[in-house]
Parts: sequence; C-alpha cells; structure tokens
Amino acid sequence: MTKETIMIIGAAQEHCLGINVAHRMGMRVFVTDGNPRSPGFALAEAFSVASTYDPKATLDAAKNYIENGGRIDGVMTLAADVPYTVAYVAEHLGLAGIGLETALNASEKIRMKECFLQRSLPMPLFREVANEEHLMQVADEFGLPIVVKPVDSRGARGVQLIRERTLLPAAYSNARQYSPTDRVMIEEYLPGPQLSTEGFMLDGEAYVPAIFDRNYEYLDRFAPFVVENGGEMPSLYEPRIRDEINSVMKQAALALGMETGVIKGDLVVSQGQVKVIEIAARLSGGFFGTVATPASCGVDLVRTNIEVSLGRSVDPHQLDHKYERAAAIRFAFPESGRVIHVDGLSEILQDESCCYAHVFVNEGDVIPTITNHPGRPAVVVADGDTREDAVINANRLINSLCWQIEQI
Ligand SMILES: Nc1ncnc2c1ncn2[C@@H]1O[C@H](COP(=O)(O)OP(=O)(O)OP(=O)(O)O)[C@@H](O)[C@H]1O
Ligand SMILES: [Mg+2]
Repeated sequence: MTKETIMIIGAAQEHCLGINVAHRMGMRVFVTDGNPRSPGFALAEAFSVASTYDPKATLDAAKNYIENGGRIDGVMTLAADVPYTVAYVAEHLGLAGIGLETALNASEKIRMKECFLQRSLPMPLFREVANEEHLMQVADEFGLPIVVKPVDSRGARGVQLIRERTLLPAAYSNARQYSPTDRVMIEEYLPGPQLSTEGFMLDGEAYVPAIFDRNYEYLDRFAPFVVENGGEMPSLYEPRIRDEINSVMKQAALALGMETGVIKGDLVVSQGQVKVIEIAARLSGGFFGTVATPASCGVDLVRTNIEVSLGRSVDPHQLDHKYERAAAIRFAFPESGRVIHVDGLSEILQDESCCYAHVFVNEGDVIPTITNHPGRPAVVVADGDTREDAVINANRLINSLCWQIEQI
C-alpha cells in the first residue's frame, strides 16, 4: 500500500522546508506550482505544474495524480497566500479543510474586514475606493497618514503609507496594478509596534506560540512602500499582551468562520491595544513559521500544519514552547541592477548561529527597485541565547554577503 501522502500547494524555496518536515514524518509529498523550475519539484516524490492561484488547474492536477495511482490524504500550503485553492482541492477530494466560505473570507481584504467589523474587533478604519477622486475624498475624511493597498493581493505588493496628499493619485494606480480585480482600498494608518504571529485554531480555541516583533527600519528608505526587514522573537511586548493576542486571534478566526486551521496574524499595538490588520489562513512567508519559530522555542508549526491538514486531532500541548531562546530574520537590500556575483553564502551557512540562509537571485538576474516582500533577494535566520544576540547575529550574517552588481 502506498504511504500516506500530503499535497503541498506551492513548491518555492520555503515550501521545500515543508517537504522536508513531511519526509521526516515518513510521508510522501505531491507538490504543485505554476513555475516549472520550482525547487520543490526535485525534492517531492511527485509534482505537477499548476498555478497556485488557479483552483481548477490545481484540482485537475490532484485528480490526475490520483488517477495515475497516487493517493492524497491531506492538502495544505505554507508561505503562499492561496487559502481558496487549498480549500477548493480539500472540498472536492473530501479532505480536511477550512471550507470555501472561510477561505474566501481570508482571501479578500474588504470581505475579511467586514467579518471583523461584525464582531467589533479592534482594527483600523477601512473603505474600498472606486477611483482616484473617491480616494482623495475618503483620505480627507480619514485624515493623513493613510495606507493605500489592493483589495486582493499579498506580499505587500502595492501597499503604501501615504503622508502627503499629492502622492494619492500615484498611490491609487500603484495599488490597482496589483489587484487582479482592479480594486483598491484605504485604511487608517495605525502607528505603533508591528507584530507577526503564528498559530492555530484547534476546535474553536486559538493557540499562538510565536509572536514576532517585525522590523520596519526601512520605512523611510522605501517610502511610500511598506517593506519589512524581517523580525525577531521573543517579542518585547510579551508576556504583557499574550492573552490579548490569543483573544484577538480567536475572535478574528471565528469571524471568518474558522474553528480549526492555521492562523497567522498581522497585528499592531496601537495606543496600548492590540489591533488586527488582517489574518492569513497559512503560515507566514519570510521564514517566521518554518525556521525562526522552531529555532526560538522548539515548536514545529509545519508538523502541526500537516497533522491538521490530514484531519488528525492535535494535542495543543505540542504547541507549548520546548525552550526559550531567540531568533531573528533579516533580508538583504542591495542596490538595484544586474547581479554579477554574490559571495559569502557558504561562510554564512557554516556560522554556528545560522539557522537558514538563502540567496534567491542568480548571476545575470536583475534586481529591480525593491517595493514589496517577494522582491527581497536574500534572507538569513540566526538564533541566539537572547533576542539581542539573535539580532546581532542576523545583521552580521546578512551584512557579510558581498554583492557585485552592475548598474543598468
Ligand atoms: N492600516 C495599517 N496600519 C499600519 N500598518 C499597516 C496597515 N496596513 C498595512 N500595514 C503594514 O503593511 C503590511 C502589509 O500590508 P497587508 O498585510 O495589508 O498587505 P499584504 O499584501 O497582505 O502583505 P503580506 O502578504 O506581507 O501580509 C502589514 O503587515 C503591516 O505591517
Ligand atoms: Mg498581510
């Protein structure tokens, strides 16, 4: 009899870490991705080329795999924000999942925020805007600064913090360009520490083992674009806000209709209160969930994600911290241009504080001006006994990469 098989939607660099966890659990892995050169294709037992954003093509790939003798016991993603594709496959194959309605609520920002509003969750003011003129009107009503963003994109594509009225027309077209449905929204800007959390809903209760402080040191450099430079755990604000985060995440997940599933939070501590920008029904991109969480506290979120996707009942104690260390993530932001050569990765990988490091670009690739998260060309995750040590290690390692770049 064929071994238990997990289907992972997405086969990029971070998915490879999920494939490795599934293998350590003794499972086979079937992956799908629209990029025929996805690194996960070489790691998994089986793969098929299908865009992660195309639910029907992904389901066809799964059915085809089964017709050819494969089995699928569960379906999931990590890092890729494609809850609808995952739910669609789960629904049609009779597998565990969050359901189509909840997946839609998690996919579209206006719909999500309307769900939050019904439960009176603490959150920024928001409004969809029909055109540039409407944007100006609502911006006047909310008052600057505001955040302008596409209603249905991800990876911070087109997300802009606007402090001056003259920048509003360009912000509208920048955001609209990233919306597959040409829809733009604005939000009140919430000042304050930004947090990213990783966790699960298990039978209607929220468990949030990882709270990261996100690093926005480059807000001015990339203005008006909101580009994050990693983050670190444990959070400075823990344990003061741990219970509040649990409660906000639970209410947010229930508002979307989720009783069991992955919950990743984008939160802000604003005027002393935890407010929710959005939640995602998958583990973070950016190596928060896959690498930094297990390094910092020993919790294997990917394993739990796989178990939930298989429909197994999960003991919440497996989300308890196993130890208290620290981890930090930092990205590289070289000048834009054509990559001639990048040196230093092999030394970084040998450093004892290095948990993970990867350069996403190859020689000859062009690094454009960075305006969003998928544009960041390299990452390092480092650990340390304390948060300060982990940050020092991550900065030291990422800064040791030597970029040879030709201006174009
Ligand atoms: N109203 C706001 N107030 C303060 N910060 C915000 C606001 N909206 C967005 N941000 C910051 O910008 C980040 C990206 O915005 P958002 O999550 O809406 O876009 P996204 O495309 O879904 O990005 P990602 O896929 O990284 O979550 C947020 O995680 C948050 O740090
Ligand atoms: Mg987000």
